[in-house]
Amino acid sequence: MKRILITGALGQIGSELDSFLRKRYGNENVISSDIKSVTKEMISQGGTFEHIDCLDAQRIYSVIKKYKIDTVFHLAAVLSAIGEKNPQLAWKVNINGLYNVLEIAREYKCAVFTPSSIAAFGPSTPKDNTPQETTQRPNTIYGLTKVTGELLCDYYYTKYGVDTRGVRFPGIISHIALPGGGTTDYAVEIFYEGLKNKKYTCFLNKDTYLDMMYMPDALKATVNLMEADPSRLKHRNAYNVTAESFNPEQLADEIKKYIPDFEMNYNVDPMRQAIADSWPNRLDDSAAREEWGWSPDYNMEGMTKDMIEKLKLKLFTNVNN
Ligand code: SER
Repeated sequence: MKRILITGALGQIGSELDSFLRKRYGNENVISSDIKSVTKEMISQGGTFEHIDCLDAQRIYSVIKKYKIDTVFHLAAVLSAIGEKNPQLAWKVNINGLYNVLEIAREYKCAVFTPSSIAAFGPSTPKDNTPQETTQRPNTIYGLTKVTGELLCDYYYTKYGVDTRGVRFPGIISHIALPGGGTTDYAVEIFYEGLKNKKYTCFLNKDTYLDMMYMPDALKATVNLMEADPSRLKHRNAYNVTAESFNPEQLADEIKKYIPDFEMNYNVDPMRQAIADSWPNRLDDSAAREEWGWSPDYNMEGMTKDMIEKLKLKLFTNVNN
């Protein structure tokens, strides 16, 4: 990994992966791209930004060529709730975008990281300790694109030797950029609303268990997998990874330790509840632990403490770190 391109760099994960990779590999070696426009912050940090719509293969091709890219972190994607509202868009962006990246990676011999998701599982998948290899019959368009993406990445590895790697991310919790239209978003919104208004109305039932992960762990998983010894990787696309599994009521109780008069209400959104109900309660991530040493640093308690500290600074003192 010497010359890196990130797609979807202004999204929830991209916004933080960008600075993480710059620190690790050098500012000049990380090119960020997004369909949205670059932020002033990014320019002031001295980053290089290129506008890329992943449906425009020619544009990806010219950026990869211009900067002699050898590794792509392909994060541009449509998430689950937005996907259900616009399935055609989800298919186009998640499948055609990935296909474009893989085709160019084949020609330019780039390594490719593509996130899969807990959404790659469906109602017939075992819900607890969901195995690495098990039934994958998702019933959301987002999940369909994630399973297809996993298979496509495997295909490019076996057929063409493209160094494809990926993880099945759970809900990602972070305090820099907001997630964009997923089912696990409640676990981020709850912190903003809790700190600003001391109350939150949750769109999922209080007993809906889902896998979650704090952003520092998500960044660590991404980079550790890409730096892992390839000879140890048996399940390239994609590894189950998790850090914590909790339901909205448990998270609300944890938040109350810091905001004692925090009030949680529920107004269930049937669409997002159905999506959450079709996903696992908790993944078994032993393959990731064995094959590349995956181990998270944050559980629900550690994540909540850190989220509250960081968000307080962001929301009330205009300092973001
Ligand atoms: N966070 C994602 C979503 O809710 C899951 O991969 O769509």
